[in-house]
Amino acid sequence: MSLAIITGASSGIGKEFAKQLHAEWGFDRFWFIARSTERMEALASELGCECKIISADLTTMEGIDKYREALIEEAPEVDLLINCAGFGTFGAFDTLSEKTVSDMIDLNVKASVLITHMTVPYIPRGGRIIELGSGSCFTPLPHFNIYSSSKVFILHYTKSLNYELRPYGIRATCFCPGWVDTEFLPKSLNAPGAYVPKSMKPLLSVTDVVRRCIKAAKRGKTMCVTNWYTKLQHLLFKLLPDPILTKMWLGMLKKNEDKGEN
Ligand SMILES: NC(=O)c1ccc[n+]([C@@H]2O[C@H](COP(=O)([O-])OP(=O)(O)OC[C@H]3O[C@@H](n4cnc5c(N)ncnc54)[C@H](OP(=O)(O)O)[C@@H]3O)[C@@H](O)[C@H]2O)c1
Repeated sequence: MSLAIITGASSGIGKEFAKQLHAEWGFDRFWFIARSTERMEALASELGCECKIISADLTTMEGIDKYREALIEEAPEVDLLINCAGFGTFGAFDTLSEKTVSDMIDLNVKASVLITHMTVPYIPRGGRIIELGSGSCFTPLPHFNIYSSSKVFILHYTKSLNYELRPYGIRATCFCPGWVDTEFLPKSLNAPGAYVPKSMKPLLSVTDVVRRCIKAAKRGKTMCVTNWYTKLQHLLFKLLPDPILTKMWLGMLKKNEDKGEN
C-alpha cells in the first residue's frame, strides 16, 4: 500500500497528481490537505481508495498543527509528499494588502517547509518529495514580486534538501512549470489596476506537466522544468543579465482593467 500526502489536493495540479498517482503509479492511499472539504471528498470518491481528508488553512499554525497531530497519531510510512498548496497575486508591492503578502509567504514558504520538516521522519528509503516551484522563480519579476520570490526560496531550498536527504535514500524534486491551465491564474489575475501579463500563452495542460513531473521525481531529479518553452526561458534567464530580463518582463505586462472581486 503506497501512501502519497498531497497539500492543495482540492484542485488543479494537486488534484491531477492524485489522479495520475492512483491510475498509473499504483498509489492506493492518500492524505489530502486543503480548505475545501467537499472538493477533497469528491476527489476521494472519484478515486475510490483510502483517502484521509484534513481540512486545514495552511496559512495558520492551527492548520499546520492539524496535520502534525494526524502524523503523530497514525505514524504512517509516507512514500511521497507533494507540497502543492500555494497561491500568487499580481500587484505592485505597495498595493498588495499586508494580509495578502503575509499569506503568500506563510503558505508558499512556511507551510511547505514545516510540512516537509515534520514529514521527513516518516519517509522511508526510496521515498520522494515534490515541492512546487514555478517558471517564475528564475528571475526577479516586478508586480509578481512576493510570489516569484517565494518560489525562488523553494527552488534553492529544494536543491539543498535533495542533497541533504540523499544519505537517507530520499530525493526531493522542485517542480517548475510555466503557466498551467488551473484555477491559479484567474485567481492571480483578479487584481484590479494591477499590471498583469498580456498573454498567458503557452498555457500548459495540467495532465501533461504532472506526468512529466512524476517521471522526473521517480528518477530523483532535483528539478523539473516541464516543456521546451519553459526550458528555453530557463536558459535565457541564465544567460541574460537581470536588467534586460526585467525590461522584457515589464514589456509583457498590461494594466488590468477588470473590476475583479477585491
Ligand atoms: N497554475 C500555474 O500556472 C502554476 C505555475 C507554476 C506553479 N504553480 C504552483 O502550483 C501549485 C498549485 O497551483 P494550481 O495551479 O494547482 O492552483 P489551484 O488550482 O488554485 O490550487 C491551489 C491549491 O492550493 C490550496 N490552497 C490555497 N490556499 C490554501 C490555504 N490557505 N490552505 C490550504 N490550502 C490552500 C487550494 O485549496 P483550497 O482552496 O481548497 O484551500 C488548492 O487545492 C501552487 O503552489 C502554485 O504556486 C502553479
